[in-house]
Amino acid sequence: MMSICTLYNESCITGARKHLEENSVDLIITDPPYGIKGDTLHKHYNRNESCVVDGYVEIPEEEYGQFSIEWIKEAERILKPGSSIYIVSGYSNLYHILHALRHTSLIEINHIVWKYNFGVWTSRKYISSHYHILFYEKPGGRRTFNLESRFGAEEKSLEGGSLNYQDREDVWVINREYKPGQIKNKNELPVQLLTKMILYSSNEGDLVCDLFLGGGSTARTAVGLNRRAVGFEISPSIYSVRVPELMNLTPGFLLNEQRIPECSAPKRQRERWTSESRSDLLQRYKDLKGEGLKKGEIVERLMEDLGRGKWAIIKALKALEQDI
Ligand SMILES: C[S@@+](CC[C@H](N)C(=O)[O-])C[C@H]1O[C@@H](n2cnc3c(N)ncnc32)[C@H](O)[C@@H]1O
Repeated sequence: MMSICTLYNESCITGARKHLEENSVDLIITDPPYGIKGDTLHKHYNRNESCVVDGYVEIPEEEYGQFSIEWIKEAERILKPGSSIYIVSGYSNLYHILHALRHTSLIEINHIVWKYNFGVWTSRKYISSHYHILFYEKPGGRRTFNLESRFGAEEKSLEGGSLNYQDREDVWVINREYKPGQIKNKNELPVQLLTKMILYSSNEGDLVCDLFLGGGSTARTAVGLNRRAVGFEISPSIYSVRVPELMNLTPGFLLNEQRIPECSAPKRQRERWTSESRSDLLQRYKDLKGEGLKKGEIVERLMEDLGRGKWAIIKALKALEQDI
């Protein structure tokens, strides 16, 4: 098994082929170079660039299409069936990313718009202040989507609206982080944005991959939420400045900061097990094991399918141990 955080100073295309097996990753969150001379973007930003790490490797516009096809093919190969990928993209080269995705078996789940602050000031046109986030899945398995990971299904805002619904709308308003005086990367993704994707689309212990690490914000957030991280950054200077701190993170350091959702009680909580419901449980357990699911995944599926709590399922399975 891969360690908590494994980050390579290599191109993700050749690197993934070398280091990552087919069907080995539970979630990909990635933010590829934009192909719009991102290495000179600072000219448009009104900020002190002395804290921004140099060495951003950009892809020439004329190579962007082929480059996208190659890395997205790799992403498709390493994802487990049923796992998800989130790709952050500006609008300039969105066409190439969508085109590359259509050359794979990956299926679109949502096209999310992320609205951020600090758009680049313009005077003769509208100010661009959004990115696209393409949320896709690899078919062939049941996708993790933790419906109540942030807000319980019944939780209401002060105005009476559903908090769960609002959190799952496909326009996300999340500010970029303002980090005066701190070492940062060009276009670092905010922890809040990464936390949302990681909590909905993975479980603790899962392997989260970022093919374009930059400052390593995905790896940092994944470890902070007690997931494992793997990733690639081609630039030696970015890698050498940013990666050492990522190797000493305490797994789970972000968990205490997370809001605890008020989840609805399981539908059949406290209902007695009958001999029929026990044999149904046993059969379902065997079927799911036959599909190759791990014990934790089986318990989650059974909780959902049978409307019972985690401990009720675990206790009932223990009682059936000799038949399993
Ligand atoms: C948009 S930035 C990623 C920013 C990152 N999400 C963060 O929060 O810091 C894209 C990164 O991909 C790197 N890169 C470019 N080509 C690459 C390749 N073939 N393999 C791996 N990394 C690459 C660039 O050097 C840059 O750091």
